[in-house]
Amino acid sequence: MNSFCHRNRQLADRAAEAPKWTAPYALNPATIAVDSGVLTGIVLKSLNGGAETVELPLTVSFLASGVARVTLDEKKRQLGQIELSNDRIRKERYNEAEKWTIVGGLDADTSIDSSAIFANDEITVVKYGPAKNFEAVITHSPFSLKFMRDGEEQIVLNDRGLFNMEHWRPRDSTPEEGVDQHGLFDESFSGKSDTKPRGPESVGLDISFIGYDHVFGIPEHASPLSLRETRGGGDGAYDEPYRLYNLDVFEYEFDSPMSLYGAIPFMQAHKKGGDVAVFWLNGAETWIDVVKKRTERTTTQTHWFSESGLLDVFVFLGPTAEENIKSYSQLTGTTALPQTFSIAYHQCRWNYLSQDDVAQVDAKFDEHDIPYDVIWLDVEHTDGKRYLTWDEANFPEPEKMLEALDKKQRKLVNIVDPHIKKDDNYHVYQGAKENDVIVKDNNGNNYEGWCWPGSSVWVDFFKPKAVEWWKSLMTYDAYKGSAKNLYVWNDMNEPAVFSGPEITMPKDNIHEGGWEHRDVHNINGMVFHNATALALMNRDGDKPLRPFILTRSFFAGTQRISASWTGDNLGNWDHLAVSIPMVLSNGIAGMTFTGADVGGFFGNPSPELLARWYQVGAFYPFFRAHAHIDTKRREPWLAGEPWTGYMKEAIRGRYRLLPTWYTAFRRASVDGMPVLRPMYLAFPDVEEGFGVDDQFFLGDSGILAKPVTKEGHDSVSVWLGDEQPYYDYSNYDVHQGKGQTTVYAPIDKTPMLIQGGNIFVRRDRPRRSSPAMKYDPFTLVVALDKDGNAKGRFYLDDGETFDYTKGGYIERTFTFDGKKATLRSDSLNDAAPGEFLKDMERVRVEKVIIVGANGQQLGQVHSVDVLQGGKKWETEVEYVKSGDGKVGVLTVRDPAVTITEDWTLQLRVGKIEL
Ligand code: NOJ
Repeated sequence: MNSFCHRNRQLADRAAEAPKWTAPYALNPATIAVDSGVLTGIVLKSLNGGAETVELPLTVSFLASGVARVTLDEKKRQLGQIELSNDRIRKERYNEAEKWTIVGGLDADTSIDSSAIFANDEITVVKYGPAKNFEAVITHSPFSLKFMRDGEEQIVLNDRGLFNMEHWRPRDSTPEEGVDQHGLFDESFSGKSDTKPRGPESVGLDISFIGYDHVFGIPEHASPLSLRETRGGGDGAYDEPYRLYNLDVFEYEFDSPMSLYGAIPFMQAHKKGGDVAVFWLNGAETWIDVVKKRTERTTTQTHWFSESGLLDVFVFLGPTAEENIKSYSQLTGTTALPQTFSIAYHQCRWNYLSQDDVAQVDAKFDEHDIPYDVIWLDVEHTDGKRYLTWDEANFPEPEKMLEALDKKQRKLVNIVDPHIKKDDNYHVYQGAKENDVIVKDNNGNNYEGWCWPGSSVWVDFFKPKAVEWWKSLMTYDAYKGSAKNLYVWNDMNEPAVFSGPEITMPKDNIHEGGWEHRDVHNINGMVFHNATALALMNRDGDKPLRPFILTRSFFAGTQRISASWTGDNLGNWDHLAVSIPMVLSNGIAGMTFTGADVGGFFGNPSPELLARWYQVGAFYPFFRAHAHIDTKRREPWLAGEPWTGYMKEAIRGRYRLLPTWYTAFRRASVDGMPVLRPMYLAFPDVEEGFGVDDQFFLGDSGILAKPVTKEGHDSVSVWLGDEQPYYDYSNYDVHQGKGQTTVYAPIDKTPMLIQGGNIFVRRDRPRRSSPAMKYDPFTLVVALDKDGNAKGRFYLDDGETFDYTKGGYIERTFTFDGKKATLRSDSLNDAAPGEFLKDMERVRVEKVIIVGANGQQLGQVHSVDVLQGGKKWETEVEYVKSGDGKVGVLTVRDPAVTITEDWTLQLRVGKIEL
């Protein structure tokens, strides 16, 4: 653990042990001003019993969205009054995390001015929020901030007095009382030394969630969705705090707060009746302790500390999780709407060895009638790990390979890592040197480290010039052998440096603007994939397709551009199981386009594990099989029957549901709601569900999945959060009643239930790749609730261009009204019909399956009147019972309605026209 982490934890211990702990920070009331939604003032830190003080400018912005933002900086540094021996090093605290992360939502509520506050000597109170039912109560001394909703305390900052802003001090200054002096100005970590020309500058704060028992978020960790306690907590508590420091971790543990590849410092607290959240905007190494105090009502106490940067905390008061996620998405951006191919199935391994190998794997998919959209090439496809080149012996004609894939409407993804081989004959290295865009070491020289290609350098993508140059490298001319159907995988961008401390870059390396690597470490991976996205779009001039990039490292904001995966997992049952909470956790923190390596990266999974992993994988928003170079080949046909059949069925199931997946992605791209929904989001008032993290809903479809993640199991216990009927996806057997229900799940089956009340859309003819399904007809599944009604939503566009931003899309609601026995389809898009709609005119609905058609009325439907475009025609129905004989299933055959127009199906019962 680094020294800043020790110091902050020691402070927590001192505070806990002291009979009465008073934090040495006070807001000077005379300095408080409020104008246009922003409160400012000066917080004084007193040192050594008040002998000295440090001024910390405070800003509390009350945003129009209802979010409050609290920022503290250090005045002396802001004014540049500090002498440093090495003037290359920036003197301010790092203040650019916002620049890379925040894309909107910062407008302040300008109606708030000094008249909106109440103040006396002790406190200042500001009423805010869209309904003015939020209050910020600032206690001046010791400084703390309490956030209230409807008169009730929700979040308290500095509740326990652990606020700590390590101010700038010269090396020879009087030591701060009680503060361990070890590691303040330099330290050695895992055998590597870290010079600290700016000295200590960590920032820490405790944040209490009053009355909240569950906190979620702060990915990425291989741990349960509802965060466990850490030191000082009860049973099952982790010793270490949750760590956010993007790292390339070898064989990570499956139940641990240790750092992984990505970092999103967004935490949500949930309880029956309300939600709150905080976003700790800081790109440096960050740790978070979590403890729950269970008295009359549980309060979750958290303690956050980052190695450098501003204190910059966004406070969300809901009242719902949905609203918090939406506000967070306004700030950091929503998931980019992906191309359809990228949410289909991806086949990867380290490595497909040659273009013949690629051709053979490609052919085998067709031979076995297994759909797939993308084949991937890992590092070995390059000329000696020189990215953006090809190994000419094994890939002599990449254009031909890409063309052959394109004929089947398939894509290729090539890996492009951020380390650049130090080789004067390599054009990328030459360019990086000539443009002077290489990250510097602490002496100002180009930093060199060791990675796959041997001695390497790293491009500093914080430099605008580096981005421009990177763009020039990916044009079709510059990247020889590339084509429109080639996309990019950015791996190792934490960055992984084999020779560096903790296999990453030294913290005292220098980036654009003189900032140290320590300041930007967690943001580093994001600026790399952002540059790649711009490069991919640039290659198609003014008609770009949506870029597809997979990144291993991520930060808040990555979702705007990139998909991610959970890195080098292990091919065992534990890793299969933990992949579900990991994907859910990433999802609620904005990073919803994510998945784990199907089959596990390391090791050789048994056929049973592999088959089950495909069933889970078919529910990852990002669905890719991948394997380490030392593993045995495991493409789906290699296991042989019956296993191949199980994997094939899982993949085909995904393809059938692609329209529903795409609709869920659309919602994520609009308001940030994750594609996979954990139970606390689905049933916010049902406490038993808050900790459930092994089952989830797919978007708003009503499909509830709980894949099998245990060896030898042939059933699962699914938790139902309400009294609706839940129909088994495969045979419509009904499960009803809040609580646990057993769903039979032999090896060929993924346990999936459809919650009554929902309508979703399928395409029931999986083909060899997703674009081949473009004009296929749709099937609607209408699952009736206990009152006989249902509704659903559907979104479709061309799945590749940006035309949808100009109205080129179909968006519809479907409504089944049980009393009237009608199903309606209504458009939500008012834009004038353009090319896309014309193109889709021929696409029809081939089948409507009404599940739960019980009782006299729906049990006796003999035909259906179809109304579309002022015309009326009749079609036939078929009525059967579910496997258990309890559920009526009415299938409307070929209603011949189109997907582009409004229509109504009127079910005719007996002789009576309803
Ligand atoms: C590490 C990645 O996590 C893994 O997926 C990849 O195969 C290897 N790097 C080799 O590129």
